[in-house]
Amino acid sequence: MENSFNPQERIAYLSRTLEEHNHNYYVLNSPTIGDREFDMLMQELQQLEEQYPEYAQPNSPTQRVGSDINHAFVQVAHTYPMLSLGNTYSIEEVAAFYERVKQGLGDAPFDIVGELKFDGTSISLTYKNGQLLRAVTRGDGTMGDDVTRNTRTIRSIPLVLKGNDYPDFFEIRGEVLMPWATFERLNEERERQEEPLFANPRNAAAGTLKLQNPSTVAARGLDAYLYYMLGENLPTDNHYDNLQKAREWGFKVSDTMRVLHSIEEIKEFIDYWDVERRNLPVATDGIVLKVASIEQQEELGYTAKSPRWAIAYKFQAEEAITRLNSVSFQVGRTGTVTPVANLDPVQLSGTVVRRASLHNADIIRSLDLHIGDMVHVEKGGEIIPKITAVDTDQRPADSTPVEFVRNCPECGTPLVREEGEAAWFCPNSNHCAPQIKGRIEHYIARKAMDIDSLGPETIAQFFERGMINNVADLYTLTVDDVATLKQQGRKWAQNIINSIARSCDVPYHRVLFALGIRFVGETVAKRLASAFPSMEQLRDATIEQLTAVPEIGERIAQSVVEYMNDLDNLLLIERLAQYGVQMKAVDTPETQLRSNVLDSAAVVISGTFEHHSRDEYKTLIEQHGGRNVSSVSSATQYLLAGANMGPAKLEKATRLGIKIISETEFLQMIDE
Ligand code: IVH
Repeated sequence: MENSFNPQERIAYLSRTLEEHNHNYYVLNSPTIGDREFDMLMQELQQLEEQYPEYAQPNSPTQRVGSDINHAFVQVAHTYPMLSLGNTYSIEEVAAFYERVKQGLGDAPFDIVGELKFDGTSISLTYKNGQLLRAVTRGDGTMGDDVTRNTRTIRSIPLVLKGNDYPDFFEIRGEVLMPWATFERLNEERERQEEPLFANPRNAAAGTLKLQNPSTVAARGLDAYLYYMLGENLPTDNHYDNLQKAREWGFKVSDTMRVLHSIEEIKEFIDYWDVERRNLPVATDGIVLKVASIEQQEELGYTAKSPRWAIAYKFQAEEAITRLNSVSFQVGRTGTVTPVANLDPVQLSGTVVRRASLHNADIIRSLDLHIGDMVHVEKGGEIIPKITAVDTDQRPADSTPVEFVRNCPECGTPLVREEGEAAWFCPNSNHCAPQIKGRIEHYIARKAMDIDSLGPETIAQFFERGMINNVADLYTLTVDDVATLKQQGRKWAQNIINSIARSCDVPYHRVLFALGIRFVGETVAKRLASAFPSMEQLRDATIEQLTAVPEIGERIAQSVVEYMNDLDNLLLIERLAQYGVQMKAVDTPETQLRSNVLDSAAVVISGTFEHHSRDEYKTLIEQHGGRNVSSVSSATQYLLAGANMGPAKLEKATRLGIKIISETEFLQMIDE
């Protein structure tokens, strides 16, 4: 048949097309197809790869969504050490650098490439035959963490290069960044979930790149700029030209880089970006100046720590001085008390600052903060301004030191602090107003019970009128009760009652998240729900049983046990159960990961079995972290062989050196 369907070619075609669209969208910022069309092509590719795993490539665009499998990071040595740059804050020192280079090159002519210093986390990418081979973090400069899987999810990093004039083997380094807008969205979300905020996009990018779960990384929206190519057969002797080439191969290279011919041009470049950097979508903290010619770079060489052919000029952090008027203490949903500085309003990088975070009691003490102090407020890379220093010379004689409150500012209960924790918190969780309201707000949130007709104002009204005191009370509300809040409010009330009733369909793992147990976020709730598929089992779980679950540490386990030992909480759960809220996992068995012994191995099932049906084996494979595939290929790891299996399959598996395991061996492997 001449025109028959060729899955291998179709997979290759779809991969190329999707990568092209990724590049248009994430590197060139000019998409040429719509999201829907893109999704359809992606779906087709996913299906084909599932059907024909033998043609699935590790650098396929489908890998950009990440997988849920956990992999601890492997440490690898850098081929060339990852050095840092000499820093300076003054133009004079830049001029001195320029002179040193001039002398070092014996007065030969040279060019300087001016670049932005991106404020993220550095990454080294190795490409072999145009394919991304591995991605490694800086680490200690000599060894770094292999973060290839996470890096594949960064859409602006090409997995397969365009064109054909790239070296067979080379390394390219750059900065992984979280754009401002993405960073702000992430922190808003974390604030809602009462998770600790990231101080700046740099920490957020570095933290994200080191997450265990690549699909979470994929969802975080990282970006990457590349700024340095290394290898034996680079296209030209010029750093600038090499990066222009890299751009042609699909890399995101900043178009802000310039070739500069004199110290005057360097100064102009610095002055321009000192102002203009505020309009960039990503954080920058300076300018990097590099000698353009690679031969000249080699001639200048390195000191022990940094190259002699480059220097970083750092921008001044933006700072203002203002008066500290008072400190307020806010109580969150989990009882954590956060100090907030109230300041005389002051202009700082384009916005008026009135408040600054003080984080915790230790920070107040280390600053030796007094009411009425003139304080330095900085906004550097940080989104929430912070107090960095105090002008003790200007301190009024009668000023009093800032004391962290000892009792809850809302309910008066003495605060407690747990060992190893910086934060103080109010333990009166069931009778402290902001905690009660906060918990109810958390319960109704979209990612929890999704009771979308309710909002914080209505919750506050219910609470203040004594209609609700906890989340179970929501289910006792009637249309008549609710309608009293509003004139002609029956329709509105009916809507609220309906959406409360609908929350009884929300699956168990989200109920667990909705309860608002300290340290139990969405992901932890999922893990707990799959290890303890009913609320009763979770209630009876011991610290040892809890910490045996992957990713559940001592701190979370302790918090769960404490929650389940509180009679008020148990009564609450019992009431919720009576109102019909889900207290058991009715998840499909595939979603309950029991172990990861198979570590994403592709397993083919063949023949007939004694202990379980084929379908049961399929489920078991998935429950233990493997993938069931239908046909034997070189990508198959195991052939689960039952009785009467086809001779062709057996022959092919033997020829490809695939491990053939019997039913008993398999059951032993997964410990059943
Ligand atoms: S070049 C040997 N160029 O700054 C030179 N670095 O302290 C290698 N960085 O670790 C670095 N933007 O993470 C270079 N345009 C740029 C950069 C840049 C940001 C970071 C990088 C490096 C640190 C140097």
